Amino acid sequence: MDVLLNPLDRRHRLRCDIPVLPGAFPVVGHLPAIVCDLPRLLRRAERALGSHFWLDFGPAGHLMTCVDPDAFAMLRHKDVSSALIEEIAPELLSGTLVAQDGVAHRQARDAIKAAFLPKGLTQAGIGDLFAPVIGARVQAWRDRGDIAILRETGDLMLKLIFNLMGIPARDLPGWHRKYRQLLQLIVAPPVDLPGLPLRRGRAARDWIDAQLRQFVRDARAHTARTGLINDMVSVFDRGNDALSDDVLVANIRLLLLAGHDTTASTMAWIVIELARQPMLWDALVEEAQRVGAVPTRHADLAQCPVAEALFRETLRVHPATTLLPRRALQELQVGQLRVPAGTPLCIPLLHFSTSALLHDAPDKFRLSRWLHRTEPIRPVDMLQFGTGPHVCIGYHLVWLELVQFSIALALTMQKAGVRPRLLSNVERGQRYYPTAHPSMTVRIGFS
Ligand code: HEM
Repeated sequence: MDVLLNPLDRRHRLRCDIPVLPGAFPVVGHLPAIVCDLPRLLRRAERALGSHFWLDFGPAGHLMTCVDPDAFAMLRHKDVSSALIEEIAPELLSGTLVAQDGVAHRQARDAIKAAFLPKGLTQAGIGDLFAPVIGARVQAWRDRGDIAILRETGDLMLKLIFNLMGIPARDLPGWHRKYRQLLQLIVAPPVDLPGLPLRRGRAARDWIDAQLRQFVRDARAHTARTGLINDMVSVFDRGNDALSDDVLVANIRLLLLAGHDTTASTMAWIVIELARQPMLWDALVEEAQRVGAVPTRHADLAQCPVAEALFRETLRVHPATTLLPRRALQELQVGQLRVPAGTPLCIPLLHFSTSALLHDAPDKFRLSRWLHRTEPIRPVDMLQFGTGPHVCIGYHLVWLELVQFSIALALTMQKAGVRPRLLSNVERGQRYYPTAHPSMTVRIGFS
């Protein structure tokens, strides 16, 4: 761990009476440890400094990080703003609802959210659309026998999201390229020269936005068509205060981004956990054989409790979104702490997701937490999706696609008489920020 902190920075400093974690590097601050070793960084900071401390996010500045589970409730506080997200990632998230507050946020969210609720997903036939795509992909894995899992789930998710948006299959390779370039904006150094990631990422964003603008025009011209973009356009246009196309386009781009990395990472972790825990695989296969087919509607998911528990427990142990940035607009009281107005905050979902204060034996991967519960799912049980006004819009979609995926994987591999096996070390190369994922090099065999 210590290699990722700067041994020369040993000063004990306070900002607004709250300790700053020593060990920051010039320019990048604590980012090396945040990206590569966040769980241990948070535990170490808590042991040394208590429940509140500043972490240095390099170019994004210092964020006051609070590991007390009470901080989760700050996500619901009316005096806590999401605008800091846009300050941290202006190239990608400017003008999107995830970085907005109040009326602007509500208007854009209202136009999108219905399509992602179980009723909207069922009406749009999303489960029927996804099942064959997932089925074909897992059959290809079976035929190849050995895959780099994150690369594969990343590709599959991109295909599913483009399908969801109604992007024609023939255009997928072009979109794929532009989308990869767009992602470079997340890590691009602020140097705008030809060939560098910032210039390429901006060009890709402009290309994607131009295509999306055309989709919006097409949707208006063919109102009888179905599909997610058509649904969103008609809700946008029906609203009392019609929103501009810029808002619509920025938010469709947000959906592409928000639903990709997070779900691909969770899907990859599901396969890794199934490969390293044979009993888990056996339980899933038994369930898949009992239901006999991949579910396509939300109402059918209740027949797949093992696959659902697998989705929830995988996300609990490996949350894909680890940290949420916010800003206090007014002075706030968090537990014993007074947080001054204007303070930039970091809410560490990762820490809560594996906290002994919220879960028994938090480091143990146990489906029984979910299988034997009698009470309904509470916000804290799905904290990996946030809470409050910005709680993830894609929650029901992820639930559907990950259960579909797990059942399809079990049916396909079982039929061929094979099971997933881990071919490489999982402990090395994990990343935790901006989103978390296993190493790109993890390989899974099917034999
Ligand atoms: C495992 C998969 C996913 C995880 C862990 C996840 C996690 C999250 C979290 C933590 C937030 C809250 C952000 C905040 O409060 O600042 C969020 C928001 C959001 N998510 Fe997801 N997400 C996932 C998949 C998806 C999918 C599939 C979609 C849609 C295609 C989606 C769309 C969104 C949108 C639009 C928001 C912004 C909502 C708002 O600001 O009101 N997410 N997600």
